[in-house]
Amino acid sequence: MLTAQENDLLTRVEGDAPMGQMMRRYWLPACLIEEIAEPDCDPVRVRLLGEDLVAFRDSDGNPGLMAEQCPHRKASLFYGRNEEGGLRCLYHGWKFGVDGQCLDMASEPQGSGLCAKVRHKAYPVREAGGLLWTYMGPAEFMPEFQRPLFSPRAETSVSIFKIFIHCNWAQGLEGGIDSAHSSSLHSTDMPAARVANAVATGTSWQRPTTDKSPRMEARETDFGFRYAAIRRPIQNAETHDYVRVTSFAAPFHIMIPPNNIYNVYQMSVPSDDEHNIIYICAWSDAGAGVDLEAWRKFTGAQLGIDLDKTYRKLDNISNRYGQDRQAMRLGSFTGIKGFPNQDIAMQEAMGPVADRSHERLGASDLAIVEFRRIMIKAVRAFMEGAPPPGLGVTAADYPAIGSWERIIPKSADWRTFDALAPKAAAG
Ligand code: FES
Ligand SMILES: [Fe+2]
Repeated sequence: MLTAQENDLLTRVEGDAPMGQMMRRYWLPACLIEEIAEPDCDPVRVRLLGEDLVAFRDSDGNPGLMAEQCPHRKASLFYGRNEEGGLRCLYHGWKFGVDGQCLDMASEPQGSGLCAKVRHKAYPVREAGGLLWTYMGPAEFMPEFQRPLFSPRAETSVSIFKIFIHCNWAQGLEGGIDSAHSSSLHSTDMPAARVANAVATGTSWQRPTTDKSPRMEARETDFGFRYAAIRRPIQNAETHDYVRVTSFAAPFHIMIPPNNIYNVYQMSVPSDDEHNIIYICAWSDAGAGVDLEAWRKFTGAQLGIDLDKTYRKLDNISNRYGQDRQAMRLGSFTGIKGFPNQDIAMQEAMGPVADRSHERLGASDLAIVEFRRIMIKAVRAFMEGAPPPGLGVTAADYPAIGSWERIIPKSADWRTFDALAPKAAAG
């Protein structure tokens, strides 16, 4: 449990909230590249850390991210015309380049000189791994941009889905680091099977265990923490354990254990105090991975079918997430289709900011406790002038810090395995 003051410290990101100020020291995902795919594309609304922004791509293909409200008299640039090298406000025709510089002022007299003096608020952006990234912190603290951990090379196969969620970022993130829930909430989609490792079939993830109460062990690291969820395997239970190691890197990155085809990576990005944006990537740097449509179909996150054009779910709290009680009687554990839909039903129904002072945590909540402890410690240290954790992590670190899953001898120590070590080496 957390006190109300600790809960605020963890969840609040708007304005001067310390967590939001700390988040500004990292490169943050702003939107998918597919949302601003073409030069002169339609502008896209982006709300990050309580700030309303607009993303677009100019005529030369340069991406931009600027404050949504025009600096003239605050009309929304979301409605603007994206044309001829900039975004033009509809109200009086002021036009801005991707760097925020005003390029034209239709409403002002020729030679007024005002245009050259107006620079709209615009944030630096980078493109990598299928996402547009931005840095919203002070210029003097801007870290060098690194390729994301899930996309070590431009050629890495990365398929991403995105969904807006109506609850704070920590509530969303706690779903991703909660290994125990997968054995109940996702049990229909993650059936037990006599397999050596997790196997993706296209319609389910098979796992070599029936054990619903994992033993949890965590280890704090300089980037966050790693933890092992240790279960009884179906085969060789006397001599072996089935171990799933999940890594958390500050501020909101989760490396979820892979299956036989792809790795899984989650980010729960704070939109504001009561909303977050989840991005879940299926990625592979070795094989073909999974293609985008197959990934979105499997997870129930297809645009136009499961989500509207703004990446909001069509099944949501207003229709009980499409829950089918008859399907539950016939064997579906939840009656809710799709991993994210199941997760989001649990997370949103807690309320936008769950009261964590009244929880009853158990042994299987170890990772939740670690996440809260480490991030509250980090933000308190940040308030005292310490740098945020995890800034130096690069894709080259993945083998040492990333997630993995396999059956290992009981005599082995999960802490000694690397994420990308050959599975055969585990015996
Ligand atoms: S409000 Fe945008 S040009 Fe006037
Ligand atoms: Fe889940």
